[in-house]
Amino acid sequence: MAKIPKNVKNAALIPSLMEYLFSQGKVRDTYKLPFGEKFLLLLLASDRLSIFDFVLNALVPRKGEVLTALTHFWLTKIFPELPNHLKKSGMFPGGNYALDYKETFSDIPLERCLAVNSVNIPDYEMIYRHHIGGSVFKKYQETGMAGGQKLEKGLPKWSALSKPLFTPSTKADEGHDINIDAEVYLKAMGAKGKAAVEMFETIYTAAYNYAKKRGILILDTKFEGDEVIADEVITPDSSRFTTIDDWEKAMTEGRDPIFYDKEPVRQWGKAIETPFGSTGIHKLDPENADHVKFVHELEVPAEIIEETTNRYLDIFQKITDSDLDDYQKNNQLKVA
Ligand SMILES: Nc1ncnc2c1ncn2[C@@H]1O[C@H](COP(=O)(O)OP(=O)(O)O)[C@@H](O)[C@H]1O
Ligand SMILES: [Mg+2]
Repeated sequence: MAKIPKNVKNAALIPSLMEYLFSQGKVRDTYKLPFGEKFLLLLLASDRLSIFDFVLNALVPRKGEVLTALTHFWLTKIFPELPNHLKKSGMFPGGNYALDYKETFSDIPLERCLAVNSVNIPDYEMIYRHHIGGSVFKKYQETGMAGGQKLEKGLPKWSALSKPLFTPSTKADEGHDINIDAEVYLKAMGAKGKAAVEMFETIYTAAYNYAKKRGILILDTKFEGDEVIADEVITPDSSRFTTIDDWEKAMTEGRDPIFYDKEPVRQWGKAIETPFGSTGIHKLDPENADHVKFVHELEVPAEIIEETTNRYLDIFQKITDSDLDDYQKNNQLKVA
């Protein structure tokens, strides 16, 4: 499991449910709760933040709420007909069994919680790119290939592709994920994998077109799961968002566009002088205990945290056309 600085590990624990706490990821705490004869998983998105596979000793106010509400938005408003992991409640059309639990356990922060069916999640990240950039770009420049597929040569960074490119990676418990060819994924996963690749491509294409109409580009995104859509869905933690306006300017100016995510923190992290003979957290190894200790002791400047909150809230508003508070109220993701 990810190593979490102790100040932020317990940031969003639910005291009344401690006996059910099942696991803690970089951002989410998972509770395995009794549910009739079976159980349900409560996914709680904290305000924790990670860059370059290190969890930082900082919280970004409202980040977990944005991740929760945006996932809820895509799954219930845009793709209600596709198979997803949300527990469906007859009582609450939005589908939030966490509400039922709230009656018994009053300390559940509904605005951070999704009640889901536990599903098997293969050890691969389903990454799709409608624009060429990110972690596959260097290799593309060197070889003309990405995800094992040949692309047109000489494309500038963040150029649009005619359709999403599937560039999976392994899903590492600790340390960095490793990019692999689509073929490697398909060989390992068989027919189930082929169906998953197609399903997620369909979702991303539809989401890309939806966002584009609102002036937003989803440059790339990552899904988890195979038969059903699990985990978070098209959020600023799993995707790179920018505006069409800034993307157009960035392409002529030869720079990265503005990313509506934790990019301010990444930029800060890349400039940190380390005692290990290099500059930047991105050069460190999340499996090295000394490196982890060093990163966990860093303090992220308040203005960088504030800018990050603003970017998360801004992209939520741009995509959903709704203020986060209104969305939560209207969808029972918050109960006074
Ligand atoms: N429906 C589900 N069933 C089982 N596990 C899930 C489901 N949805 C998400 N998960 C897992 O819950 C964890 C969420 O915690 P997170 O902090 O995002 O972890 P990570 O550090 O791996 O990104 C992930 O390991 C994710 O794969
Ligand atoms: Mg995750």
